[in-house]
Amino acid sequence: MLSLFVYLGILLALPIVFVGYRKIEFALRVSRSKSYGDCTVQKPILIGVLQRWVKKQPLDVSFYHQLFLRHGRTFTTHPFMKPLVMTAHPENVKTILATKHGQFDIGHIREDLGQVYMRKGIFTTQASDWHSSRAFVRPAFNKMNYMGLEYLERHFQRLLQNIPADGLAFDLQPLLFAYTLNTISEMLFGVCVEDLGYDDADMQKFHEAEKCMRVKGLRAVHLSTLSNTAARLYRSSELIKSAKVFHQFVADMVSKSVERYQFLEKGARYSLLHDSMERTGDVQRARDEATNLLFAGRDTGAVLMSNVFFTLSRRPDLWTKLRAEVSQLNGNLPSYEDLKNMRYLNNIIKEANRLFPVVPFNYREALVDTTIPMGGGPNGTTPLFVAKGTYVMYCTYAMHRDTSVYGANALDFNPDRWDDPQLRPGWAYVPFNGGPRTCIGQNMAQTEMSYTIVRMLQNFDGIRSEDSAPFKPSTNFVMANVNGAKMSLYRKKLEL
Ligand code: HEM
Repeated sequence: MLSLFVYLGILLALPIVFVGYRKIEFALRVSRSKSYGDCTVQKPILIGVLQRWVKKQPLDVSFYHQLFLRHGRTFTTHPFMKPLVMTAHPENVKTILATKHGQFDIGHIREDLGQVYMRKGIFTTQASDWHSSRAFVRPAFNKMNYMGLEYLERHFQRLLQNIPADGLAFDLQPLLFAYTLNTISEMLFGVCVEDLGYDDADMQKFHEAEKCMRVKGLRAVHLSTLSNTAARLYRSSELIKSAKVFHQFVADMVSKSVERYQFLEKGARYSLLHDSMERTGDVQRARDEATNLLFAGRDTGAVLMSNVFFTLSRRPDLWTKLRAEVSQLNGNLPSYEDLKNMRYLNNIIKEANRLFPVVPFNYREALVDTTIPMGGGPNGTTPLFVAKGTYVMYCTYAMHRDTSVYGANALDFNPDRWDDPQLRPGWAYVPFNGGPRTCIGQNMAQTEMSYTIVRMLQNFDGIRSEDSAPFKPSTNFVMANVNGAKMSLYRKKLEL
């Protein structure tokens, strides 16, 4: 009986201790912020979150966009009594990613949990560990950018075989996921997944594991902005199981790749793993970095291409104009030079990266007491104090739809806007991030996307959408359309 009272007492005391702790933390923060901007103006977001929850609407990025429209480009919110700075202001983004890069980084939770689920590497480290990772993979990337286009064509031919007959409805999105898994596994390990003899059940297991890591991993990162302790306690058994499947898969690819390496002539075929092994002899490290790269680079390109084709299938005007540009190649395979010079194609990719940024929002944690240039004071126009340990969420999706940068038609998909010399978005356009942690795979992704889009247009005369639903962003690390990219395609008629 007595112990029941003790338990009840502890249960009642815990919230009081928590609130007291947060109040003291808040008072200390305010006293430290005196010489800087105001950090006490709070905008409530929990009500909006609850409303969405009650209405069974997803808490996707469109919700954050609405918050910026209501509260301005930078505001502080206070869910669970811990401040969270939310910004869609280019000056702030420039500050946290570049000017004050040493004062903001990915955060301790992404570092800790990321290493549990994804191992230690470029995507899950900060400070000196991150410098070392970036230096470790950089030379391999420089070489990979010039590994030629032949491997892309091989994988593209496989993709083509999986596209059904003319006029039959299908979803291009999963085919693109399979395609980019093949291309990236070949780049990283020198062997592509499709050649390793996994059956459909194995592949299904891998895809599910990866999806779970993305969805639940994002939940852990969300939680960390509210409470580091809650995020650390968030150890979903499903997440741990999924990470195990993912690592087993990578370990298997690595061992097959290492086996192959012994029989390869020096410089015969390129892969990041072989290159790093040759340079450093450290297979373990190369495996861990490759795991990070597989996670960072696999879905991103597939999602962007899927969003491009989702749009093309609904916009015959874009399809026709792009076909006219592609037809100038006279059916020849595109070279690097051709891809670089195709202005309309590049505008389409830029516009897709703007309206459907693959990474629609992100976080950085303040590593010291510091400030960002905008968001303080009653009007949000003076520097804002950001206490050590506070997360700043920056929303690329909202920035890319800002009418003050992109004009009144900011929500329209209009590739021609990129021909306007007046349009100079600077830090209001950051699909690949910016500053020292900018996407290291940008060039590679650009080549793969442009090559694949050109080859699709060289092979198909017509495209039709088979889905009338609007774009619905997924709540995942990457922003795919929840309903995929359902369409039918019509093959090029052979000229007799
Ligand atoms: C359309 C394609 C892609 C987009 C839009 C994209 C976007 C991004 C963004 C926004 C980040 C910053 C993430 C953060 O700091 O939290 C990032 C980082 C990164 N990306 Fe990409 N990415 C793409 C393709 C790729 C590819 C193909 C690879 C590699 C094979 C890759 C490798 C990486 C790596 C390693 C990082 C971490 C860099 C660092 O922290 O130093 N990405 N990417």
